[in-house]
Amino acid sequence: MRSAMNKMSADVFERMVTHLREGTTDLADSILHVPIANFTSKEHLDRELAVFRRLPLAAAMSSELRDTKSFVTRDLLGAPVLLVRQKNGEVGAFRNMCRHRGGKVELAEKGKKPFFVCAYHGWSYDGDGALRGVPFDDHLGGIDKSCNSLIRLACEERHGIVWVNLTDEAGSRIADYLGDADARLADYAADGTVIFMEQKLDVPINWKLVMDGAIDVLHPQFLHPKGVGKRIETSASVWEDFGRHGRSWSAYKRLSDKVKAGTASDEDHRYVTGNLILFPNASMIPTPTHLEYWNVWPDLEDPARAHVHIRFLVDPAVLDDERAAKINKSWEILKQAATEEDFPMEETIQANANAWPVGDFIYGRGEAPCQHLHRQMSREMDALPA
Ligand code: FES
Ligand SMILES: [Fe+2]
Repeated sequence: MRSAMNKMSADVFERMVTHLREGTTDLADSILHVPIANFTSKEHLDRELAVFRRLPLAAAMSSELRDTKSFVTRDLLGAPVLLVRQKNGEVGAFRNMCRHRGGKVELAEKGKKPFFVCAYHGWSYDGDGALRGVPFDDHLGGIDKSCNSLIRLACEERHGIVWVNLTDEAGSRIADYLGDADARLADYAADGTVIFMEQKLDVPINWKLVMDGAIDVLHPQFLHPKGVGKRIETSASVWEDFGRHGRSWSAYKRLSDKVKAGTASDEDHRYVTGNLILFPNASMIPTPTHLEYWNVWPDLEDPARAHVHIRFLVDPAVLDDERAAKINKSWEILKQAATEEDFPMEETIQANANAWPVGDFIYGRGEAPCQHLHRQMSREMDALPA
């Protein structure tokens, strides 16, 4: 089995070494001013949600649906979804909605079942969504089973992620949606992984502020002086723009030490790490032992809330006790940084935004990854149908 690869072009490495040597960083074209109201306005949130609903959404990991007939249910931006591994190996995605009068046909979060029975009046559905049984059919007047299957949703599995499109308006293949990020994501080899651990957190923070924190290159030495700030260079970053998506590269201090000593070589690619940022709400970071994968979901009602889902993905073929111990340690470090440093800081930003939702926040030229998130969201909102 392949392991996650931090493949980078010679150009990226060269640029990083130059930045470390000269104290520079990649720069966006101009300073970006983002209205503070973008973090507090319900109307703005509604338009962002309209953007999300036109895009393929990362609904589950392939590894959660390993065997035929295994299923998971998800609440995808408020839409109840049922995902089932089909006999032909593909994943079927359905509205988790009974064709009778709309009950959820499956209430469990995950499991394995030959068919699904709605608890309200007992209608049952095969794993492929076909309606198979209608109790008291005579009393109902004769239900045409052939046209009352569960309603299918557009779904595609790629790079170990099950993507679901709630509206299918974009109608795009995932490879097209990912564009230049497709091959980069393939390098991370998430399709060979399983979930080692995961955590879901509800936070009183706008989703974009959480995303900002996850991709911000300017804060480690200040906000995490004892943790990641000691290991990662602050504000020396290389930004690869893939259009809708992008990748932000950071360097370990180890590399800057070598650059300063004049001993850096091609071998030192491993001291540069690439955070692949998939618009709108995902970030995937390879580490030597695992993949760190974030999804940040907006709350549907409250612009000042988000639902954060962090997963550590591992290649089971190389997982042993020693590696597991290292991953557990990484988890503790991440948890500490996120819950004791990042989220509390972001909460102060949200509190200020709530109190004074006028004016704007500044995203400087050296903050290209964060700029990209906000610029891209503006572009997508402008492209919404009137
Ligand atoms: S709502 Fe499902 S059987 Fe009636
Ligand atoms: Fe942070």
